Amino acid sequence: MLTKLKKLEAAAQQALDSCADADALEALRVQYLGKKGELTALLKELQSVDADQRPVVGAEANRIKVELGEAIRAKTESMDRQRRQQQLESDSIEDVTLPSGLIMPGAIHPLTQVTHRIVEIFHGLGYAVADGPQIETDYYNFSALNFPDNHPARDMQDTFFVENGLLLRTHTSPVQIHVMERRRPPLKIIVPGAVYRHDDDITHSPIFYQVEGLAVDESITMADLKGTLRRFVVEMFGDNTPMRLRPSFFPFTEPSAEVDMGCPNCCGKAKAKGCRLCGDSGWLEILGAGMVDPAVLENVDYDPERYQGFAFGIGVERIAMILYGIDDIRLFYDGALPFLEQFA
Ligand code: DAH
Repeated sequence: MLTKLKKLEAAAQQALDSCADADALEALRVQYLGKKGELTALLKELQSVDADQRPVVGAEANRIKVELGEAIRAKTESMDRQRRQQQLESDSIEDVTLPSGLIMPGAIHPLTQVTHRIVEIFHGLGYAVADGPQIETDYYNFSALNFPDNHPARDMQDTFFVENGLLLRTHTSPVQIHVMERRRPPLKIIVPGAVYRHDDDITHSPIFYQVEGLAVDESITMADLKGTLRRFVVEMFGDNTPMRLRPSFFPFTEPSAEVDMGCPNCCGKAKAKGCRLCGDSGWLEILGAGMVDPAVLENVDYDPERYQGFAFGIGVERIAMILYGIDDIRLFYDGALPFLEQFA
């Protein structure tokens, strides 16, 4: 029995030495140590060995089993390591300092940046963002906002009409009506969005952006409107920016005002010295505003005896042009990278 074990060990060792890959090693393991393997079979014969011989033979058989198993495992591991090393060497990168492909970082469009900033300022004052359709009916865009039937804004000259009496909204004010129809006061909303007009020159674009504001509650006054707009101007342009309200007219507000800020270019001081931005007036118009006309409140079934409100409409391009000193509105829409990259 001991001789058989010796022969088996020698044969296994020889076979192990000539194993060239993992499959051969596994086959070898099965051949000797598997359930039906040669060593396993010998171990079963142990019962037939004389009792006094059995401990010696058993110990020898076990030693071979353990050592052979260990040797197979070690060789498998070392072949694995070798294979990985070879792979690493053949996959190697030649020069990690070589420049990679050109990476072009994007930038948020300046009009989007300014819109976000405006919304953020009014968020801070408790306003919620609302939204409405860009294709409107005459009712929402005009009639409900108290435009008389013969108002010139309804003219083909200004408004893009689409079929079936629908039109592209000319301002964000119709969203006031949509929101008030759905909700009861108190409400404070801000509405950023695209608007459309038949207009195209250095300061006008057929599509442009506004942010509408509306606050309705009991006992709201013009002082609330002025304080709110003051807050906006200070946050947007800085503490010391002058601001004034000028009487104006909008069909949906009474009284109405246009709001000017001091020209940041000449600071209102260099009057009559050729300021390109303000035409030497020292002031720049930045938005329209007013107290919601009682007729508009009635159109949405709000009791004008009980509720008052104020509204305002900010031109996003106008704010962005003043903020960044841009004099041609078309730069916003051309998509030219040298312009846009400056806002990264
Ligand atoms: N909708 C006006 C426009 O597009 C702007 C405006 C003026 C909005 C006064 C208002 C407002 O809410 O109160 O010219």
